[in-house]
Amino acid sequence: MTDAVARAWDRAAEGWATSTPIVRAWLRRATAAMLSEARLKPGARVLDLAAGAGDQTKDIALAVGPTGEVLATDISPKILDFARGRIEAAGLANVRFAVADAEQPVHAEAPFDAVTCRLGLMFCMNPANALAAAFKVLRPGGRFVALVFGDPANNPCITTMMKVARKHRGLTGSVSPYAEGGLFSLAAPGRLASLLMAAGYVEVTAETLAAPFELPDAAAYVAFVRSSGSPIMEVLAPLDAKARESAWREMEEALEPFRGDQGWLGPNELLLASATRPG
Ligand SMILES: C[S@@+](CC[C@H](N)C(=O)[O-])C[C@H]1O[C@@H](n2cnc3c(N)ncnc32)[C@H](O)[C@@H]1O
Repeated sequence: MTDAVARAWDRAAEGWATSTPIVRAWLRRATAAMLSEARLKPGARVLDLAAGAGDQTKDIALAVGPTGEVLATDISPKILDFARGRIEAAGLANVRFAVADAEQPVHAEAPFDAVTCRLGLMFCMNPANALAAAFKVLRPGGRFVALVFGDPANNPCITTMMKVARKHRGLTGSVSPYAEGGLFSLAAPGRLASLLMAAGYVEVTAETLAAPFELPDAAAYVAFVRSSGSPIMEVLAPLDAKARESAWREMEEALEPFRGDQGWLGPNELLLASATRPG
């Protein structure tokens, strides 16, 4: 299963990396809030889980400065190569990389001051394992922060695309929107906070953040998802090129109503969870 997840993200790696300007604009405020909750100081050691193409890793590396250290991990070797390239291009020497499943024990010598995870934790089949692994490597007083997708009802672009994709694949059975390892697996009210408390964390908070996509049109959003949105790409992957094209076209039409006077505004809601390892 984890191997399948890794291969799926390998396939989306280049798309996610080249979409960094879109991702960065979409998550600008949410990322700033995540870093603020991590309480990063110069010299801090940070573990960045599911680091992807390293957009937030770079922000973290800059926040902790040359005396700090970041270990960026991801299950997909290909996407982590893009992170390495981004960090090298920025001339930052304080980041190390390791291909790793966030659910597995972390191999690192000293404890971390913070563990961060931007839009990765919900893909874990057993997120409690990831929370426990992070807990073990945090110093007492260290911070855990994660951004995940919020309530599916407030994420209509994702739910619409998934619905259309499943229809084109002929997957007509009903599935829980909160299925483990899926986009909304941590979106149910209180779920992530409960998991954090059960793992032993204190000072647990979970805050809803609006992170709408501001793009010229629905076509731009669909172009982003079709190159980098692994969960939807994977639903359509078994179809032939013509059938896939028709699904993407239908998604674009379905998302057109989000066009307003100022351009296209796709609603998106995130949850920012934060917690402390007790001293
Ligand atoms: C939506 S991308 C987010 C990447 C990056 N954090 C960002 O915000 O730009 C999700 C990332 O989670 C990674 N991922 C999925 N399941 C994982 C797991 N079990 N352990 C580690 N990384 C995982 C994927 O490989 C992918 O890079």
